[in-house]
Amino acid sequence: MVKIIMHGCNGKMGQVITDMVKNDDTAEIVAGIDVVDNRDNGYPVFTDIDACDVPADVIIDFAAAVAVDKLLDYSVKHKIPVVLCTTGLSEAQIAKVEEASRKVAVLRSANMSLGINTLMKLLKEAANIFAPAGYDIEIVEKHHNQKVDAPSGTALALADSINEARNNEYEYVYDRSQVRKKRDKKELGISAVRGGTIVGEHEVIFAGVDEVIEFKHTAYSKSVFAKGAVEAGKYLAGKPAGLYNMSDVIG
Ligand SMILES: NC(=O)c1ccc[n+]([C@@H]2O[C@H](COP(=O)([O-])OP(=O)(O)OC[C@H]3O[C@@H](n4cnc5c(N)ncnc54)[C@H](O)[C@@H]3O)[C@@H](O)[C@H]2O)c1
Repeated sequence: MVKIIMHGCNGKMGQVITDMVKNDDTAEIVAGIDVVDNRDNGYPVFTDIDACDVPADVIIDFAAAVAVDKLLDYSVKHKIPVVLCTTGLSEAQIAKVEEASRKVAVLRSANMSLGINTLMKLLKEAANIFAPAGYDIEIVEKHHNQKVDAPSGTALALADSINEARNNEYEYVYDRSQVRKKRDKKELGISAVRGGTIVGEHEVIFAGVDEVIEFKHTAYSKSVFAKGAVEAGKYLAGKPAGLYNMSDVIG
């Protein structure tokens, strides 16, 4: 039985995972952390992570970027691996994640779904065919009107997977309104749409002369991320220090 601490347990994702794990014979949530403590989850909830003294095999995090520094300190101090799913981290926080991963196992993924992680693999292959042939690459992402960060961490991760395959030759462009000039071949445009209750849509467009190839992923509910996060938690429990990602879990 993998013992999980749920960081951000009273948020939307924390609650989906709380419900999902109730029906899982191989995992249990032994404690939750959240600044809001407004419901009975069937496990103790701590409003301050440092007050949590419950032994656990792994922490699953879906909270807020502002909470990540303290979370990493806790994970290192207690030697509990952490599946870091919160998006919108600063450059300094990403550096801190790398530093922490030298002492404890850390898996960070902007998108925990199997579909997106498979798409990342496919995009590398597509980019290596279409980029040398001169096709322009653009990403459009759509999310609900409550999301605060833009572009989505997933859009950036998709862009990164393309850029890594192409020796990081692309520069990301988020806003074309300030400069009046034609797009450069080495631009990768990323656009964000916010509205309604859209769970998450990502479209990657390879546009050539008289030919357009589009890859599209749609998440219809948050359970796709919850499932991936719980599987990642089971994978990471007991793993040595290091920086892991979802491709390790998929195998
Ligand atoms: N990686 C992925 O696949 C993936 C998928 C969905 C959401 N996310 C990200 O996960 C995060 C949470 O998403 P959500 O939809 O559940 O958001 P949410 O706002 O519903 O929940 C966040 C929870 O974190 C709590 N929280 C805020 N500050 C805290 C702190 N300092 N310490 C402890 N708890 C704190 C809030 O009280 C809230 O209950 C966001 O960054 C979101 O972008 C990632």
